[in-house]
Amino acid sequence: MMPQSSLTCCPFVMFIVFVLLLISAAGFPVSDEAYPSSAFEHWIYGKSNLKGTSWNKWYANSGAWANLTGSSCGGKQQSPININPRSSVRKTFPKFRFHNYGNIDRMILMNNGHTAMYSLQRKFPKGRIPYITGGGLNGTYEFAQFHLHWGNDSTRGSEHIIASKSYPGELHLVHFNTKYGSFADATAHSDGLAVLGIFLKIGPGENPYFRPVVDQLGDVLQNHDETILTNLVSFKDLLPKQTTSFYRYSGSLTTPFCQQIVIWTVFDTPVEVSEKQMNKFRKLENLEGEHLVNNFRPSQKMHDRTVF
Ligand SMILES: *[C@@H]1O[C@H](CO)[C@@H](O)[C@H](O)[C@H]1NC(C)=O
Ligand SMILES: *[C@@H]1O[C@H](CO)[C@@H](O)[C@H](O)[C@H]1NC(C)=O
Ligand SMILES: *[C@@H]1O[C@H](CO)[C@@H](O)[C@H](O)[C@H]1NC(C)=O
Ligand SMILES: [Zn+2]
Repeated sequence: MMPQSSLTCCPFVMFIVFVLLLISAAGFPVSDEAYPSSAFEHWIYGKSNLKGTSWNKWYANSGAWANLTGSSCGGKQQSPININPRSSVRKTFPKFRFHNYGNIDRMILMNNGHTAMYSLQRKFPKGRIPYITGGGLNGTYEFAQFHLHWGNDSTRGSEHIIASKSYPGELHLVHFNTKYGSFADATAHSDGLAVLGIFLKIGPGENPYFRPVVDQLGDVLQNHDETILTNLVSFKDLLPKQTTSFYRYSGSLTTPFCQQIVIWTVFDTPVEVSEKQMNKFRKLENLEGEHLVNNFRPSQKMHDRTVF
């Protein structure tokens, strides 16, 4: 993600900024789970010893992620988890406030081989970038990207599970803590990212608010395909009706290197989409041309953590 201001200056300065970003990020490799740039993703996979790993085995072999050099995937604050409502601790948080969560134009949709990722245009006006406050978060968290996890059928798909029950899908809205200045810098801190997790459930009808999200999936069937959404995406209409009831815990990114930098909010209330809408995700392909499905990490151990 480039600083917005770099766009107005000469290519040489942009190049220097890019190199500096890579260098500054080198100490804290970030997975594409969180990072909106495909260039960065290439860099990560080039560097990591995942090279040569068959991509269709990516999730099937998620147990081996802990063995990657520099990986936190074997840590004690990993995500996702199986949330047990009975053993979570009741706590009252202030209300979430969603800012600029209205209509977002010309979002970039990318198939990165293991999810469909939606990010803002690089030239997106700074003053209109969505951000969140409240909800028990300290300070301001700015939107970076959203993406989804889904199954090969509706019996599985979500990353978080509630009392051992899976949902057919889970939407992740990824935000970074603005006090760290940039997304890359935020990833070095345990309160660096705030991810909102929204369960998708099959309803009787089409969800009109998801139309802009699913309608162009056919344009990005293959790995690294990218397109610009022609219709506006209304973030606030992707949220569940109820945003006051949620689970809160400290966890990690759910793809390598699984950095333990995420304040998780998992909303209790699911959002309904139709089976036909879910199927559009299931038609995407991974690098090997197979259906990109079951792109969820299995539940991780709780260790010494509390879910509120
Ligand atoms: C991780 O590495 C250790 C040590 O080399 C090995 O014993 C173990 O089988 C590896 N785990 C996986 C899941 O590949
Ligand atoms: C917010 O800040 C307080 C005080 O420093 C701290 O105890 C709490 O854990 C922080 N909460 C989050 C979600 O970062
Ligand atoms: C869905 O995936 C699971 C896990 O890989 C597999 O056992 C099952 O047979 C698949 N179902 C269909 C309908 O392909
Ligand atoms: Zn995710």
